[in-house]
Amino acid sequence: MTVLGIDTSCDDTSVSVIKNGRVLSNVVFSQIEHSKYGGVIPELASRDHIRNILPVTQKALKEANVSLHKIEGVGVTYGPGLVGSLLIGISFAKSISLALEIPFIGINHLEAHIFSLFIERKINSPLIVLITSGGHTELILMESEGKYQVFGSTLDDACGEAFDKVAGMLGFPYPGGKEIEKLAEKGRGDAIEFPRAKLNGYDFSFSGLKTAVLYYIRKNPPSKKDIPDIAASFQEASIDSLIIPTLMLSEKLDIRTIGVCGGVARNKRLREKLKERAKECRIVFPSPQFCTDNGAMVARCAEFHLERGEFSPLSLKADPSLILPT
Ligand code: KG4
Ligand code: ZN
Repeated sequence: MTVLGIDTSCDDTSVSVIKNGRVLSNVVFSQIEHSKYGGVIPELASRDHIRNILPVTQKALKEANVSLHKIEGVGVTYGPGLVGSLLIGISFAKSISLALEIPFIGINHLEAHIFSLFIERKINSPLIVLITSGGHTELILMESEGKYQVFGSTLDDACGEAFDKVAGMLGFPYPGGKEIEKLAEKGRGDAIEFPRAKLNGYDFSFSGLKTAVLYYIRKNPPSKKDIPDIAASFQEASIDSLIIPTLMLSEKLDIRTIGVCGGVARNKRLREKLKERAKECRIVFPSPQFCTDNGAMVARCAEFHLERGEFSPLSLKADPSLILPT
């Protein structure tokens, strides 16, 4: 089965072609104009998706060496995300579905992130999934493919959002996660003792940590040489805040397979520290290109639903605050 996957949930326009689970192309166009504003401007994002969606799709088909008429189903993110951005992908996918008379499948962006774990390997259920991105931090039990139970969520900022905000405080453009990681490589993670949120249960919180960094910077205006230590200490505290509830849940449910996905899953220190701390577990991370928003994870998720005969009506609307079905 050849499936087209489209994601326009935020500021990346991404389209992928997969065939029988194999990724033939995965084109991501990242909008850079938001960097000077310190965050995504929704109106600019949707206008840019309009400009990009057709060329990105053409590039994805060309790289896959597949003609549009060979596509057997089209999956598109319909939420959560920015409504104006979602609408572009949805309208585009619906037109393809109508014109080619092929199934249209609305995909939950969070479920697509989960399916990024299955692009490159098979994983037996049950498993624990940590989604950590710019918009979400969710701790989930996946009992079987398509069956989820959410155990924890962030009470305030998402982890990626905290990385972006701290990068902004240190004078780096949006999105700053990868910049923090780069700076942290030159600093000491134990230089400053930033707080790790202590919550009951499996929830997360990053706003206290973010504020602690802000106050630290106000009190100790950093020179250039101090910045790597701040970045490394912040990174270490964020990673601990992700790992602690995840391992607690793994222990409690006695499930030793843990998948981590979403943009922050690209972080090498997170990968290393989780593997170090959970030697008895099978820890799975997607390749970096499948961590940040991409069409391949949408296509892979759409293929799963297609195989189960699950399609969406063309009346499907964008749902900016869609949650994971449980
Ligand atoms: O999954 P994603 O592309 O978008 C959402 O669904 O939100 O995640 C983007 C987030 C941004 O906050 C970005 O700063 C963060 O992922 N990110 C990273 C790294 N690469 C991207 N955070 C930490 N370390 C990285 N290497
Ligand atoms: Zn995402």
